[in-house]
Amino acid sequence: MSSKLWGGRFTKTTDQLVEAFNASIQFDQRLYREDIRGSMAHARMLAKVGILTQEEAASIVEGLAAIRADIDAGEFEFSVALEDIHMNIEKRLTDRIGAAGAKLHTARSRNDQVSLDMHLYMRREVGEIAALLQELLQALVDVAEQNADVILPGYTHLQRAQPVTLAHHLLTYCQMLARDFRRLENVWVGADIMPLGAGALAGTTFPIDRQHVADELKFGAVYDNSMDAVSDRDYLLDFLSFASVLMMHLSRLSEEIILWSSAEFGFIELDDAYSTGSSMMPQKKNPDVAELVRGKTGRVYGHLMGLLTTAKGLPLTYNKDLQEDKEGVFDAIDTVKVSLSVYRGMLTTMRVRRDRMLQAASGDFANATDLADYLVKKGLPFRQAHEVVGKAVRHAIETKRLLAEIPLNEYRVLSPLFEEDLLNAITIDECVNARRSLGGTAPQEATRQIAVLRTLLAAQAEKIAVYAEKNQVLAE
Ligand code: ARG
Repeated sequence: MSSKLWGGRFTKTTDQLVEAFNASIQFDQRLYREDIRGSMAHARMLAKVGILTQEEAASIVEGLAAIRADIDAGEFEFSVALEDIHMNIEKRLTDRIGAAGAKLHTARSRNDQVSLDMHLYMRREVGEIAALLQELLQALVDVAEQNADVILPGYTHLQRAQPVTLAHHLLTYCQMLARDFRRLENVWVGADIMPLGAGALAGTTFPIDRQHVADELKFGAVYDNSMDAVSDRDYLLDFLSFASVLMMHLSRLSEEIILWSSAEFGFIELDDAYSTGSSMMPQKKNPDVAELVRGKTGRVYGHLMGLLTTAKGLPLTYNKDLQEDKEGVFDAIDTVKVSLSVYRGMLTTMRVRRDRMLQAASGDFANATDLADYLVKKGLPFRQAHEVVGKAVRHAIETKRLLAEIPLNEYRVLSPLFEEDLLNAITIDECVNARRSLGGTAPQEATRQIAVLRTLLAAQAEKIAVYAEKNQVLAE
């Protein structure tokens, strides 16, 4: 006879290797708060509809609270033989309070139980990640604002293209993070659906009240279909896809940080606290934080592909394959959180070398478009202006000068439209200030963007407060 909670129909004990292979307790013990809180709500609901007595429910809730305190204090020994967090806790409860504990699993299966746990867990993590993401966005908006008048070359193909402000450049990443927050809000929507009461797959013969459980746990909705409730992992895929895109954004910024802190660029210097040295080369100061975030992006993508692949061939409903949903999601959560935290410190402490940026922007032909625009404003069709300025650039290269260093009489050989006001039109400041089109690099457009983002940050703070308020149920 097997001593398992499911041992009734078995005559042999489980093979040792199978037992270890089958177990998830090594990683799903993370879910203990959610598991206990879900069971409390389930017990109260069972009492409300008359399946348990009030005394039985009270003793279950009390027993669960004591187990939670034990786990909090590190005084709970998890057993691999009991397979997962659900059975570890249920067994301990029954050992502790006796008969009532054995009634807790009425009208419930581990399939809807684990789904409830993961929904609660994902809600909690969305709440925490939302706060970290908002803090990073806030910090980046601040850094952008502080660098409103710093000019550097904007690049296409990693070739100097047109001068932009550093604020404008960094605000691009703010826009990405703002979209990431929106994607995260969508993860919440998928996680905020209550699956308990689906039973193993088909619902239950008991007169349960699913809405009661949803209300106690502050869920916004209840799964409409019991089979969907136990087999849906879309909300986890939504999270992994949010995490992948977020990491991709941080990875792009990392790449720029790495380039910019090289001697070749020299645009920024990272703070000593956010850099590391070399064990061999005494002079080295390496941007390891940015490199690690770039590197960790790969494993988060891997978790997304992993779960998509796990889910793709599964028949309805629950299959043990779905136990594989957890480790990747947990690792992605940890990776995203540490990346967001460390990134904020790195960005707010980096030193901007505005002289180097300005030199790169002005020591080149980044104002060539402005010279062409100048001719267009004097009446020349753009195509012809492009041709004339192309010749001017070639002439400048051949005579080893910049566009601003060529005297007017030489310009007039190329076109009679060039006049005295030419030099003013192609100063680096003018190149930036004149791009006043909506979303352009002129400083007032950065100011406008920053105002919009600050309003967004306030709206995000309200969302975060709602999440925190709902997640409060886990502490009850
Ligand atoms: N540890 C399992 C998981 O994470 C819990 C659900 C088990 N259900 C079952 N029918 N074996 O998926």
